Amino acid sequence: MDYVAKVSSLTGDVSTCHEDRTRAELGCRQLACENADMTAQTLTLTRPDDWHLHVRDGAALASVLPATARQFGRAIIMPNLRPPITTAAQAQAYRERILNVVPPVLTFEPLMTLYLTDNLPPDEVVRAKAAGVVALKLYPAGATTNSDAGVTDIRKTYATLEAMQRAGLLLLVHGEVTDPAIDLFDREAAFIDQVLEPLRRDFPGLKIVFEHITTREAAQYVGSADANLGATITAHHLLYNRNAIFMGGLRPHYYCLPVLKREVHRLALLAAATSGDKRFFLGTDSAPHASQLKEQAVCGAGCYTAPCAMELYAEAFDSVHALNKLEAFASFNGADFYGLPRNIGTMTLVRAPLVVPETLPFADTVIKPLRAGETLAWSLRA
Ligand code: NCD
Ligand code: ZN
Repeated sequence: MDYVAKVSSLTGDVSTCHEDRTRAELGCRQLACENADMTAQTLTLTRPDDWHLHVRDGAALASVLPATARQFGRAIIMPNLRPPITTAAQAQAYRERILNVVPPVLTFEPLMTLYLTDNLPPDEVVRAKAAGVVALKLYPAGATTNSDAGVTDIRKTYATLEAMQRAGLLLLVHGEVTDPAIDLFDREAAFIDQVLEPLRRDFPGLKIVFEHITTREAAQYVGSADANLGATITAHHLLYNRNAIFMGGLRPHYYCLPVLKREVHRLALLAAATSGDKRFFLGTDSAPHASQLKEQAVCGAGCYTAPCAMELYAEAFDSVHALNKLEAFASFNGADFYGLPRNIGTMTLVRAPLVVPETLPFADTVIKPLRAGETLAWSLRA
C-alpha cells in the first residue's frame, strides 16, 4: 500500500485508502492518485539514495560531493579512481576523504565498493566485508572511463565471486561487452547472453545489480529474473534518446557510457522505472569530467547530473504522470535490495522553475552540469 502514503504527501487532499478495500475500489483510488500526480505542486518523499555515483578524488571530490549530499542520504561510490580502489584499506581511506568534504550541516553516508580485477584475492573480500564495503564493481576491461584494470575474462574472478557470495557482498556490473566486432549499441544485449546469464547460473546466491541499464532487452531481462537481480536507471537515460547527442551538432555533455539508445529503449526504461517493480531503482551514474575534457577532440564519457538529480528524475516521472511511483524508485527499492534500512527524514520537490547553472567550480577549473543554462520544471525546496 505504499502508494497511499505517496498520494497524501503529494497533494494532502486525497483521502487515505485502507488495506481492506476491494480491488475495484483500489482501481478507482489509483485513478485518483494519477490525477493527483498531474496537478501536484509539491512532492514530499522519504530522503532518497543514489545507488551509482562517481565522485572522483582530491579537489574534484570536494567540488562535487556537496551536490550529492544535499540531495541523497547515501550513495554507492564507484571505485574507478586512478589507480582503482581494490583493497579494504583503500576503500576505508577513500571513505574518510569523502566524509571530510561533507558540508557540516548535512548528513551523508558513502557506501563503499571495490573494483574487481582478474586477481583480486578472495581474502580481500573477507577484509572488505569487515570494513563495511557493500559491493564489488565489475568493469569489463576497456569498457569505460578508467577501466583498463578491469576484468579480461569473468572466469578468472570465480574464486573471488564465490567469496562474495559467501560474505553477502553484492556484484555491480557495467553490462557491456568490449568486443570491437560488436556494434556499440548492441553491447549491452550481448553482455546479457555472454556474461550475465552464465554468471547468474553459476552464482545463484549472488545479488547482482545490472548498473545503468539502457535497453528494452535489459529491462525485460531484469523484469523476468529472480529477486537476486536488480538494476539502476539513470535520469538521463529516462529523459533522452540518442538523438540528444547529435542535436544541431555534436553534444559532448550527452555522451556517456553505456551510450544513450533509441526512443523505444528510453520508453521501456521509463515503463520499468515507473512500474513499481522493486528490482528497479535510482542510480544517477553522475560522472563528472572537467568541461575542457568534454569539449575536445576525444571526449570522456559521463554526464554530470548530481546537482539537479532529483529534479531530473521528477521531470521524467512527471512526463508519464507517474510521480506517485518516484518514492519507491528513489527511496525504497534500492535500500530494500541492498538489505539496508530506508532513510529517515524527507525531501520536498516543488513545481517551481530552476535555472541550471552554466558552469560550476570543479577543482581548479569548471564543469558543465547536464542541461546547463536551461530551466527545469521541478526544484528542491531549500
Ligand atoms: C563513468 C565515469 O566517467 O567514471 N562514465 C560514464 O559515462 N558513465 C564510468 C562509467 O560508469 O561507465
Ligand atoms: Zn558509472
